[in-house]
Amino acid sequence: MALGLSLKNITKTFGDFKALSEVSFDIPPGQFVTLLGPSGCGKTTLLRIIAGFLEPDEGEVLFDQTVMNDIPPNKRNTAMCFQSYALFPHKTVYENIRFGLRMRKVPQEEHHPRIEEAMAMVNLTGLEHRKPYELSGGQQQRVALARSVVVRPEILLFDEPLSNLDAKLREKVRVEIRDLQKKLGITTIYVTHDQAEALAISDLIVAMKSGTILQNSHPRTIYDQPSSKFIADFIGSANIVPCTVKRLGGSLFSTESPYGTLRAEDQDFPRDQGEAFLCIRPEDVRPALAGEDTSAMNLVNGVVENSVYMGSMLDLRVTVKDHFLQVNVSKDYLITVGARIDFTIPPAKIRLLES
Ligand SMILES: Nc1ncnc2c1ncn2[C@@H]1O[C@H](COP(=O)(O)OP(=O)(O)OP(=O)(O)O)[C@@H](O)[C@H]1O
Ligand SMILES: [Mg+2]
Repeated sequence: MALGLSLKNITKTFGDFKALSEVSFDIPPGQFVTLLGPSGCGKTTLLRIIAGFLEPDEGEVLFDQTVMNDIPPNKRNTAMCFQSYALFPHKTVYENIRFGLRMRKVPQEEHHPRIEEAMAMVNLTGLEHRKPYELSGGQQQRVALARSVVVRPEILLFDEPLSNLDAKLREKVRVEIRDLQKKLGITTIYVTHDQAEALAISDLIVAMKSGTILQNSHPRTIYDQPSSKFIADFIGSANIVPCTVKRLGGSLFSTESPYGTLRAEDQDFPRDQGEAFLCIRPEDVRPALAGEDTSAMNLVNGVVENSVYMGSMLDLRVTVKDHFLQVNVSKDYLITVGARIDFTIPPAKIRLLES
């Protein structure tokens, strides 16, 4: 059975530096949760506290309903997989994977079948006698993964496991990690500062900044309904400009911004009026088509200053009323630099954020 995990008001200081400040969240059993945030925000510190390598100053770590604070790391049944893999260079793949079993004093006769099983899970069968230096980066990462799962942990912890791999391989191995996690149903906490990776792999994303949690939601919610300017900017690209808002009724607002008067539909914005920021994703803006009924849309007129072919789309730099607007459109549009174009933005795609 997978374990649920709860963190309650975890605080950790190093000297007079507060690395974590009242961090709380719950992870349901079997979920894949990503801790996402910029360098230094406290991700590794939090993982180490969950694994038991570090003690929090305050707060509780619970596995299911059991407080784990006083339980040493080797009794917690977690396994941690690092960026550096931490493989033994002089040991074979087989012996590297066996290491965790020895540490946990798993009976000798169980070793072979469990190692074989773990190697098959990560597609390493046949490579048992190689040394790490005889493996590719992706294969080394899989050895580290096999070494984590062979001990059958109830919670699997990953600290930026893919950052040494090139982009293509990273995508491949992250799918493998996710498939394996789903198959085993192990509660998993995965640390990354790669937002695309977090969106692709997670059931839940915990977005962190300076030792605090800013938002804890499903990937789609965190992307479509970021709760702050910081998250909107950190996850994906966004045009974020200051504005004044006025509620027209229900969830409909009128906004005045550098882009002109725009209508925004936002279920979550709490106030009726005042200063705020509006956030528009580049892919939610597109050229108005000839004869198109745009009455339900916002229309902005802008000049295309630059167009970059990105393979899957065009990345446009447009100026609207002297203000920069990033627009991503299908590469099938024929867009000339210097052209003046009407662009549409659906009101429901404009997000209002507190200033
Ligand atoms: N043992 C320590 N002594 C003093 N400060 C520390 C210690 N460990 C971490 N810190 C500080 O705590 C903060 C959080 O560190 P942490 O390693 O958790 O960040 P991180 O989010 O994992 O960053 P990165 O993405 O760069 O790995 C950093 O400012 C770091 O310098
Ligand atoms: Mg770290």
